Amino acid sequence: SVYWYNGEFIAKEDVRISPDDRGYYFGDGLYEVFRVYAGRIYEAEAHFERLVRTADGLRIALPYTIEAIQQLLEELIGRNGLQEGTVYLQFTRGAAPRSHPFPQGAAPVTMAYCTELPRPLAAMERGIAAVTVPDIRWLRCDFKTLNLLPNTLAKQQALDAGGDDAILHRSGTVTECSASNIMIVRGGTILTHPADNLILHGVTRGVVLRLAREAAIPVEERPFTVDELLGADEAFITGTTVEVTPVVRVDGHAIAAGDAGPVTRRLQEAFAATIR
Ligand code: PDD
Repeated sequence: SVYWYNGEFIAKEDVRISPDDRGYYFGDGLYEVFRVYAGRIYEAEAHFERLVRTADGLRIALPYTIEAIQQLLEELIGRNGLQEGTVYLQFTRGAAPRSHPFPQGAAPVTMAYCTELPRPLAAMERGIAAVTVPDIRWLRCDFKTLNLLPNTLAKQQALDAGGDDAILHRSGTVTECSASNIMIVRGGTILTHPADNLILHGVTRGVVLRLAREAAIPVEERPFTVDELLGADEAFITGTTVEVTPVVRVDGHAIAAGDAGPVTRRLQEAFAATIR
């Protein structure tokens, strides 16, 4: 496949990454995962807004304008003939001998590539089983950084326990999942953690909240507890790769009837309509 690496379109085999890249030493970088439907980037503007916010937060100067990045990603999609999948885009602070201070004069390193990925229709239909795991991350989870060790540990812990994904909580308050946001429905109202520093401000989360408001479904952006989740009428996760996927079991307990509920189904339909 064709990669975009430091401003060049080259074959994956020809990408040469420095052992001094600060992405390896420090996880010192940021990324985005864009969804591609029918050869087009979904919600590009929202992803780029978050990219800029993270780059500012990490004090990494993006080496291209957003317009240039968007054009290059579109060219990458075209060169790879991608119709349905994702584009991964990453910037690290650059390559320099290992030392904590920001390196002088090192240029950020850019990489982007495409992956074919069908829509997760089976999981969206049947729902997933989740496992609650303590959220041991830092306090800037709103930055989309390369430091994903707590996320991968949580995901693996969930898989080892026989589940599909991890639901993270801080002292009993649900934040989000290993690579998605989570919402519950109680008494007809959608609850989801506010978009503060403790969660990633998911692009899909934003779309789904907009769709809920358009459908006149009450929404409260407020933290909820693991107990409220276990007693919820419905629960679902949102994300670029999972779209709107029901959570039907948590820690072995069925959520409501152990089936996707009506609000979830309605939002799945509304979401599907946005990608056509
Ligand atoms: N993850 N929360 C976390 C921790 C995430 O990593 C993601 C996305 C989301 C959902 O955000 P969005 O709707 O913008 O995709 C929430 C990507 C897909 C990943 O790391 O692979």
